[in-house]
Amino acid sequence: MCGIVGYTGINSVGDILLRGLKRLEYRGYDSAGVAIVENDGIYLQKTKGRIRDLDEDEFPYGNVGIGHTRWATHGKPCDENSHPFYDCAGEFAVVHNGIIDNFVTIKEELTKKGHEFTSETDSEVIAHLIEDNYDDDLVATVQKVVTKLKGSYAICVLQKNSHRILIARNQSPLVIGVGVDENLVASDVPALLDYTNEVKYLEDGDVAEICSNEVRIWDSLGNAVERETVEIDWDLEDAEKGGYEHYMLKEIYEQPKAIHDSLLGRLFEFNDVDFKRYDTSFIRIISCGTSYHAALVGKYIIEEIAKIPCTVELASEYRYSSPSDLLPFTILISQSGETADTIVAAKEAKLRGCKTLAITNVINSSITREVNEVIYTQAGPEIGVAATKTFTTQLIVLYLIALELGLNNNKLLREDAQEYRSELRRLPRYVKVLLDRSEQIRKVCKKLVEADDIFFVGRNINYPVALEGALKLKEIAYIHSAGYPAGELKHGPFALLTESTPVVAILVKDHTFEKMLGNIGEIAARGSPIIAVGDHDKELKKLSDELITIPSVPPMFSPILVNVVLQLLAYYTAYELDCSIDKPRNLAKSVTVE
Ligand code: G6P
Repeated sequence: MCGIVGYTGINSVGDILLRGLKRLEYRGYDSAGVAIVENDGIYLQKTKGRIRDLDEDEFPYGNVGIGHTRWATHGKPCDENSHPFYDCAGEFAVVHNGIIDNFVTIKEELTKKGHEFTSETDSEVIAHLIEDNYDDDLVATVQKVVTKLKGSYAICVLQKNSHRILIARNQSPLVIGVGVDENLVASDVPALLDYTNEVKYLEDGDVAEICSNEVRIWDSLGNAVERETVEIDWDLEDAEKGGYEHYMLKEIYEQPKAIHDSLLGRLFEFNDVDFKRYDTSFIRIISCGTSYHAALVGKYIIEEIAKIPCTVELASEYRYSSPSDLLPFTILISQSGETADTIVAAKEAKLRGCKTLAITNVINSSITREVNEVIYTQAGPEIGVAATKTFTTQLIVLYLIALELGLNNNKLLREDAQEYRSELRRLPRYVKVLLDRSEQIRKVCKKLVEADDIFFVGRNINYPVALEGALKLKEIAYIHSAGYPAGELKHGPFALLTESTPVVAILVKDHTFEKMLGNIGEIAARGSPIIAVGDHDKELKKLSDELITIPSVPPMFSPILVNVVLQLLAYYTAYELDCSIDKPRNLAKSVTVE
């Protein structure tokens, strides 16, 4: 999963490539490079490190070029493994996102034919395959080359003495930006928004030729096709930091609006999906990372509100599970809609005969093409690698789905649905109350920054929230942390509790509260500092070192509020530790490899 940008037009390309790449840096950032068509060749500059490490002063003037920001898959991050890649003669330059599964075989065959390779990557074989198959018609050559590739790819190809860019996609996103006297291509929309808000999404198997005043597209069978031009209504400011020090903080603060937008037009009449068309008597939710934690909370929501049994699976495990005769209605959750594991799971569910629904934040993302139905969260672009507002809006959509299903199957009374709706409507205000208390939360972080290990515990619907709190802290503050159902600590992890092992405990006044208090007492007896998050309670206050309270809501909605506290705890801890908050080491926003 890397970022790609390409430009052909009347303007100087160097600056355009750098600007585009910076907007994509969240997709991967261990190396970067550009290729620019110049006089009688193609200029190449690439480097291990960030985009800022490229030396723009060295770029030649040119009007056509491609750029790449990398997240290593094959081969360590180093100058040689950075994109773009030349063929042997330096006639072509190629950037690639995805993974070529059969690259070893291709490399062996080409090596026998005399091709010399300069990197350990799978991507470099594409440049050499183009050289090997070139017959004066670059479109036909690229069409032929892609038939030899197994795996996922978004590819851009430059040729010397040419003003066009050839592109191809399969299971890896690629978007064309349509301009006036200029056209662009990128792996993701934010890289295009400085220049145009009109885009064309390629379909799997498409090959396209991009010139400054023309775009031609062919499908996988080689037929010339038109792809609809879509207008994007995210403006650039949406995708920028808006005065906050980090995207993550901005996105945490955007949550009241994100909740509001996700509820808009859906609270009283839910028209996104007509669930009555499907058998929803058994539900499975599949996803990865933070979206997996949203799915786990979703299980409690759906089982409680709609009284429908629900199982949750990790996308990376689902495809290896044994198919059964049961065909659950399958919900795939993916913020980006590009996570390879989740897309493969969607295909697998379809193959097994399940009806599928995707919950995603990105319009027209790849997953939307694999499912029967789509519901969009309305969180706006999320740039920080650590998912925040998208988790919250995924939960909002899950509440809405549960309400709809519960009413459809008569397990939910109209008056109870009404009560739930009123609570949902109040959530933006309650989140705002918590955000206004961020200074208090910030002070509590002092108790976390020194720790090497931290436990997060909760029960029932707040157990997955404990998992998510621990994940956030790991991701951005690099502190080892583990989420546990509170009742499980005594079955092993107790052995690790010491005075320097803080425990973040979630306690809301639901049917688990008394048991949770008991658990906290046991932890306190081992001397571990306790940071409690939840409802106000005298006994809890006595037992804990810190108590961060949330506005009073029915326990069903507490995950949204508790999670905001845990997001801020992770953010300020990472801040104190001077970590790279928006771009944590070794991670990327959207993981388009399995
Ligand atoms: C990556 C990100 C996580 C995210 C996960 C799933 O690992 O770093 O923050 O939760 O992918 O992403 P998705 O876009 O499918 O929700």
